[in-house]
Amino acid sequence: MAEYRKFIFVCTGSDCKDNGCKGLVSDIKNLMRENGYKGHYRLVKTKCMDFCKTGPIVVMKDDVIKKATLEKVKDGLK
Ligand code: FES
Repeated sequence: MAEYRKFIFVCTGSDCKDNGCKGLVSDIKNLMRENGYKGHYRLVKTKCMDFCKTGPIVVMKDDVIKKATLEKVKDGLK
């Protein structure tokens, strides 16, 4: 099994789905593929994290990113 240094958790609960988490998951996957992050980060889809009103929710590096966008995730990767 590959060793990953960091995890990116993306909520795929029903409210976050309504707020576009599916598109965000594929955008993050493309970002990791194109920028050489593959192998350094592991994307994990989760169930509801109880921040439904402010979805989509991403958790990375001990931070909860509310109303997550690709730009916010990129900033978190730096
Ligand atoms: S559905 Fe994503 S936090 Fe509840």
